[in-house]
Parts: sequence; structure tokens; C-alpha cells
Amino acid sequence: MAVNLQNITLKMSAGYPDQLIRDGLPQVAFSGRSNVGKSSLLNTILGRKSLARVSGTPGKTVTANYYLVDRSFYLVDLPGYGFARRSDEEKQKWSDLMEAYFHENEALRLVVQLIDLKVGPTPDDDTMLQWFFDTRTPYLVAATKADKLNATELKRRHKELSEDQMIVEGIPVIAFSSLNGTGKEDVLRAVLRAVT
Ligand code: GTP
Ligand code: MG
Repeated sequence: MAVNLQNITLKMSAGYPDQLIRDGLPQVAFSGRSNVGKSSLLNTILGRKSLARVSGTPGKTVTANYYLVDRSFYLVDLPGYGFARRSDEEKQKWSDLMEAYFHENEALRLVVQLIDLKVGPTPDDDTMLQWFFDTRTPYLVAATKADKLNATELKRRHKELSEDQMIVEGIPVIAFSSLNGTGKEDVLRAVLRAVT
């Protein structure tokens, strides 16, 4: 199926569980801690400059943003986690929204879990990975900000992450950079394969 990536609209910014979209169309979600580069990755794989808002103030908005692609599937920019300056109320809002998002979401075909290649998996990232394992949610790992490392470091960290105990064997770990386009085609290919 040929997908027109030019035909994209922001369908919904859901801040509350009852705003989450359950219309049967397939979804691919993008998960990761605040500032890891979710919105940038979305813009990069879609070849857009500023479709998804890249945050100057990370963790400010707690919404799941649904981008409808070619009227056939959604790319969902999930709100980031692990933002220290968030209030308890905001943290509760985040977990209520995420729990509702993942609960019996049969349209969810794939989660792209973003992990900062240089920082490595945080305890919160591990919680997400464990959750995907427990719920048998299909996922892949995009290891972001690869441009911050030289070739040797990149190779070393990528190997380390690929062998991480929390990441199930066989799960793709794709080194990615929104700055120089590393991994862009691989992520896009995996996303399209999941929804078509
Ligand atoms: P939240 O929406 O707060 O959850 O953050 P996010 O995960 O969407 O991150 P976002 O895409 O807004 O990027 C956060 C910051 O990291 C911005 O300053 C980006 O410019 C920067 N950034 C994103 N991707 C890359 C990358 O591949 N390389 C480098 N060097 N910086 C990046
Ligand atoms: Mg974002």
C-alpha cells in the first residue's frame, strides 16, 4: 500500500482518557522520557520541519497527540515522563492518561520506545520496557541523539543497549539522529510495516 506522507493532520491532543481515540484505525505510539526527542523523531521520519512541536520547555504539556496519516493510521506522540519538575498532580495525570492509552488498545500495532543513546535506559525506561514485555506489546527501540557520539562510542553504546537485559532478544535497536538523519529510513520502514 502506498502511503501519502504529505497528508497528515493533527487530529487530537488528548489530555484526558475520554479524549483518547478508539476508532479502530491502527496506531503507532512514540514513548520516552521528556526531552528524549520524540517530537523531533516524528518530524524527521515524516520529513517535516515542525509538524510535532519540539519543546523549549520539556514536560509542560501532558497530552497524547494523534497525527492522522493519509486517513489510514495514527502516529501518536505520547507525553514524556521522568520530568523532575513536574508536580504530583501532573504526574498523576500522566499515569492516568498512559494507563488508559495502553489499556486494551487493540489498534496499537507498535510502540517506538525512545532511549537516549548517550544516557542509556533510565529506571523509568526500564519500567516501560517491562510493561511492554508483560503486556506483549510489540515495540522497537530508537536510540536517539546518535549525533552526539563519535563513531567508536556510537558502536559501543549501541551494542551495550542491544544487549541490555531489559530489551527482549530480537527487538530492533535502531541508532537514530534527528540532526543528521541516522536511522530515519529504518524507523519509518518499521512504522509503515506495522500499520499496512
Ligand atoms: P517532550 O515533548 O517534552 O516529551 O520532549 P520530546 O521527547 O518530544 O523531545 P523534543 O523532540 O522536543 O526534543 C527535545 C530537545 O532535544 C530539543 O532541544 C531538540 O532539539 C533536541 N533533540 C531532539 N532530537 C535530537 C537529536 O537527534 N540530536 C540532538 N543533538 N538533539 C536532539
Ligand atoms: Mg514532544
